[in-house]
Amino acid sequence: MSGINYSEKIPNNVNLVGDRTLQRALEHWQPHFLQWWHEMGPTDFEKADVYLRTAISVDASGWAHYGAVKMPEYRWGIFLADAVPERKIGFGDAMGQPVWQQVPGEYRSTLRRLIVTQGDTEPASVEQQRLLGHTCPSLYDLRNLFQVNVEEGRHLWAMVYLLHAYFGRDGREEAEELLARHSGDSDKPRILTTFNEPVSDWLSFYCFTYFTDRDGKYQLKSFAESGFDPLSRTCRFMLTEEAHHMFVGETGISRVVKRTLEVMKELGTDDPARIRAHGAVDLPLLQKYLNFWCSSSLDLFGSEISSNSAQNFASGLKGRPDESQYEDHVLRNASFNMTTPQGTETVPMLNALNEVMRESYLKDCEIGLKRWNRQIERAGFDLRLALPSSRFRRSIGAWAGLPVDPQGRLIDKSVFEQNLGSWVPSAADRAFVHSLMHKVAEPGKMAAWIAPPERGINNLPVEYEYVKLH
Ligand SMILES: [Fe+2]
Ligand SMILES: [Fe+2]
Repeated sequence: MSGINYSEKIPNNVNLVGDRTLQRALEHWQPHFLQWWHEMGPTDFEKADVYLRTAISVDASGWAHYGAVKMPEYRWGIFLADAVPERKIGFGDAMGQPVWQQVPGEYRSTLRRLIVTQGDTEPASVEQQRLLGHTCPSLYDLRNLFQVNVEEGRHLWAMVYLLHAYFGRDGREEAEELLARHSGDSDKPRILTTFNEPVSDWLSFYCFTYFTDRDGKYQLKSFAESGFDPLSRTCRFMLTEEAHHMFVGETGISRVVKRTLEVMKELGTDDPARIRAHGAVDLPLLQKYLNFWCSSSLDLFGSEISSNSAQNFASGLKGRPDESQYEDHVLRNASFNMTTPQGTETVPMLNALNEVMRESYLKDCEIGLKRWNRQIERAGFDLRLALPSSRFRRSIGAWAGLPVDPQGRLIDKSVFEQNLGSWVPSAADRAFVHSLMHKVAEPGKMAAWIAPPERGINNLPVEYEYVKLH
């Protein structure tokens, strides 16, 4: 069941040969996807041999194969985690009923919108990162970028499969639209703001994979709970791939911190100007990048108080991440104390689920912060990195557009405006970071602003030639 058939045009474990109409529709979409990859994917690396992992099974043990692949020849396919026999809906008003194998008519448009919104983020991130290869700090990093890129491409396939298989003509039209919107495009932008922000330097890339891919993890976890079983199974397998994306972010930032601490020790100073002059990223600058990407990603969870989230939960479409950790799965009698600029109010728990999800996301984000701060502490420096308050720089929800500092305090608008450049990267900060970005493409060599990784990929040495450029 979980084996993947690679002899077909589209590798899959969904028995695509058994549904000729669906197979034809997807084979029709495939060249459009490849054209999109060619135009909007990583620029100028189509001939390179990249040491990539490809999914070959959905078993927890040994699901991936590693080997040199030219990216346009990557086997993007459709893989669902194995069905859980007799699976029941685990939350909401239909709790305990059998899960749905087809889309219930009354939830059709809501489910389609949820799938399209998730699907839109996948190609968006590939577009955002398409120029990064030209300034890679090492071949190891270049390979990780491309690994993330091809897997986001596969995540698009995952969502397009659902659209084609379960939403008829509407679904096929949405699948075309997923290739027609582009990140940052003024006419046809991607749906969510964070996915229209440029990711034009590697510090942003590590922050994006740390914070924004982690939002992805939380969205996928909540869809893994869905009563619509094909969505649940699709997302459960996507989570396996997603873990690596966040690893790239966490270890990337950790290596930047390590290198900066070396420079600080060498120079015997924490003076940002001297650290920058030495070609490294000072920690206050890193803090600004963390503030920017964390606050932007927090918006992705939506408004603090939301009737959509209440409906999606009550109807069994979207649960809470790790739903089984909670005791009450219906929430009709539960409430939540919500602090808004107007004060603290008690709202029905069902309407507060975006906030519940945002809080568990922030807890997950803290893990990296603790690790980086331990590095700084061990090196004997006092500075500590921190997550910004979830009220800081919000564009959606109760705190949208309000002058709040990174500690979460409402402050005077003029004070906010004066200080914003010290809380998120200023134009000068970005220009400095860009000035550090030079391609390092000799096996085993690293750019001067980042430490080498602790180990290579799949037990290979760090010096391995992970990308063979031709
Ligand atoms: Fe993804
Ligand atoms: Fe991802």
